[in-house]
Amino acid sequence: MDRIIIKGGAPLNGVIPISGAKNAALPLMTASLLTGETLELVNVPRLADVSLLLRILTNHGVDHTIVGRRPGESAETGQTLRLQAGTIIDTTAPYDLVSRMRASFWVIAPLLARFGEARVSLPGGCAIGTRPVDLLLDALTTLGADIDIEAGYVVARAPKGLRGAEIAFPKVTVSGTHVAMMAAALAHGSTLIENAACEPEIVDLADCLNKMGAKITGAGTRRIEIDGVTRLYGARHEVLPDRIETGTYAMAVAMAGGDVTLENANAVHLRSALDALEQAGAEVTATNSGLRVRRNGAVINPVDVTTAPFPGFATDLQAQFMALMTRASGVSRIRETIFENRFMHVQELARLGAKIRLDGDLAIVEGVERLRGAPVMATDLRASVSLVIAGLAAEGETTINRVYHLDRGFEALEAKLTRCGAMVERVRS
Ligand code: EPZ
Repeated sequence: MDRIIIKGGAPLNGVIPISGAKNAALPLMTASLLTGETLELVNVPRLADVSLLLRILTNHGVDHTIVGRRPGESAETGQTLRLQAGTIIDTTAPYDLVSRMRASFWVIAPLLARFGEARVSLPGGCAIGTRPVDLLLDALTTLGADIDIEAGYVVARAPKGLRGAEIAFPKVTVSGTHVAMMAAALAHGSTLIENAACEPEIVDLADCLNKMGAKITGAGTRRIEIDGVTRLYGARHEVLPDRIETGTYAMAVAMAGGDVTLENANAVHLRSALDALEQAGAEVTATNSGLRVRRNGAVINPVDVTTAPFPGFATDLQAQFMALMTRASGVSRIRETIFENRFMHVQELARLGAKIRLDGDLAIVEGVERLRGAPVMATDLRASVSLVIAGLAAEGETTINRVYHLDRGFEALEAKLTRCGAMVERVRS
């Protein structure tokens, strides 16, 4: 298994291009199942999760082409995918594929809406919590689906099609909102989604579905209205920039010091994380090309954060911010409210010398003067990158094992950091 070795202490200076968002690309790719025509997605990141979803879609019978790199495009220019679900040969999504990535469960919505049936393996547990799918299934039931669980598979049927209805989510759910929008787009009649998730990735999916002929209004607010249509068409859509990758590199600069422009980044998509970074002592400026982040010598101030649905502080940036706070000049309190077990990075950060105490959903981080490099183990995607951030500021060498987690969500991580002066190397084995 590959490892990443970081020699800490070098500041970051230069430009980091921000890739297309993984968490937008995955539902957009899934939406290709809603039409027999070609959906062309531009700026899709080259990530293990994208390749896995391509395998799942291929298994259903979706044809795909990856358009070759054009002159002037670099390795970091996202790829263009053409997906065509003209003939679906199988409406089953099998366990061995779905169990590796929870978002693949979402194929249930377009398959059910377009073909009247879907058989999708339950996604199973996950390193960051139990992550049930009850709210997704309730939404599909409200739209008229019959749902049974058979031998670990969810079997959903709606032979006469789905019917528009009112879906009121008892808690904000990104997956639930994606699934409800995709299913309702092809339902008979109108659907109202109350307490919808407002994440930028929801807006991106709604924009793409509307280009495909859907009638969706209100995405980005807590109330989304959808007038069902009888069919959807081909379209071309560019994936929005990754706000979690943006926040991650912004925190890396705040940690290591330096001056970096995050090209293509959109500050509006991560306002609360940027506010926290500014309180911590980083300078953040929106520019024409993206976002400039600087920290030159100033101490890192302790800042308390609580994760929350958008526009709150993103749970997907909690581990990275905790890494930064390990070097703060005082005590910070980080509360995780979205997932019940998203503190797996704490014990690994402790191996580098961090002082963190856990009390239920609260992490109390006592900043230390120095971290020291050590071998550590990645446990999930965002936890892994928090170890990279810590390693950038640790004395000596940090070796991160189980790097495949990073490859699921960070495109060209070593190249992007190395070009800004970091000493990061991948050892392949
Ligand atoms: C998405 O997961 C993201 N994944 C996650 O990013 C992100 O952490 C999360 O949203 C929150 O922002 C993708 O977009 C692919 P939810 P999702 O449904 O949609 C509970 C990463 O690192 N819930 O908003 O699965 C759930 O357990 C990943 O890129 C139910 O109880 O998250 C959680 O506590 C990790 N029942 C809360 O709701 C359900 O049926 C929010 O989950 C569904 C969810």
